[in-house]
Amino acid sequence: MIDLSVNIAGVRLKNPVLTASGCFSYGEEASEIYDISRLGGIVTKSLTYLPREGHPPPKVVETDSGMLNAIGLSNVGIDKFIFEKLPFLRQFDTACIVSIAGSRVEEYVKMTERLAECDGIAAIEANISCPNVDEGGLEFGAYREPAGRVIAEIKRRAKQPVIAKLSPNVTDIVEIAKSVVANGADAISLINTLVGTVIDIEKRSFKLSNKCGGLSGPAIRPVALAMVYKVANTVKVPVIGMGGIMTASDAVQFMLAGASAVEVGTACFIDPMAPLKIIDGLRDYLARHHEKSVKDIIGKVRRS
Ligand SMILES: Cc1cc2nc3c(=O)[nH]c(=O)nc-3n(C[C@H](O)[C@H](O)[C@H](O)COP(=O)(O)O)c2cc1C
Repeated sequence: MIDLSVNIAGVRLKNPVLTASGCFSYGEEASEIYDISRLGGIVTKSLTYLPREGHPPPKVVETDSGMLNAIGLSNVGIDKFIFEKLPFLRQFDTACIVSIAGSRVEEYVKMTERLAECDGIAAIEANISCPNVDEGGLEFGAYREPAGRVIAEIKRRAKQPVIAKLSPNVTDIVEIAKSVVANGADAISLINTLVGTVIDIEKRSFKLSNKCGGLSGPAIRPVALAMVYKVANTVKVPVIGMGGIMTASDAVQFMLAGASAVEVGTACFIDPMAPLKIIDGLRDYLARHHEKSVKDIIGKVRRS
């Protein structure tokens, strides 16, 4: 028997594979295809205090080895989530991690206070890294001081562990990681998407209505992996890695680099079964390498 369980800031995950925010909605669609209790956890679409429509189409465009999105944080808002989506998610035996995003510190605070009253939430993932909204999001995640300040305010009210989700669109992600940990983050997840764009040369116009969007998928994997390695080797809290994870071998790379768990995003759009295939593939890898527990490979990449 191979033990796939891991522990993230006191939250036991039955396996280290979660679905990434924005790529799994609130779980309803996938639950019609497979038993989502098999997942280590689910990270919800980022919620804002009020519902958001997001940007007009086109919101998504395919690129070489990836995709660009400028969804603009379209979501149901905190109330509808608590009354409609959370009771649905509570039926499943998997960790429900609620992602929150805001344009002001007070918005994160109000949502954290609401979530503190709710059962069935394993952790909060604070998205301080969304590149696709005009205000907020990345403004917090891009600099040490505001990143630390918003995490400190969330942490002060949170009843659940707080995971800070970091942006790769910064000069030095390690500095941001140190700041959020110094301000109470219980874990770190990274990376969010990289800012990018595509231009239609015949129409001489941007392919996304928002002009720029966030790049995800295999194209960003080497960047994400290097950032996970650097952050995991600096901070003392668990790190959740993501960015272009399509297969179990990709997930193993992130865990060897120091991630205690992984999130799967873009892969879910190509193959909704991808997270389950990654769980099975992880088990096969561990069996092949005579490992009894997935915990034994975390951070075990050779350094020389
Ligand atoms: C369509 C789409 C929507 C996303 N929405 C969110 C979001 O609401 N909140 C968030 O923190 N990240 C969001 N992300 C970023 C992913 O959670 C993830 O950090 C990123 O895509 C890298 O992982 P991947 O290459 O496996 O997709 C979104 C990504 C995509 C492709």
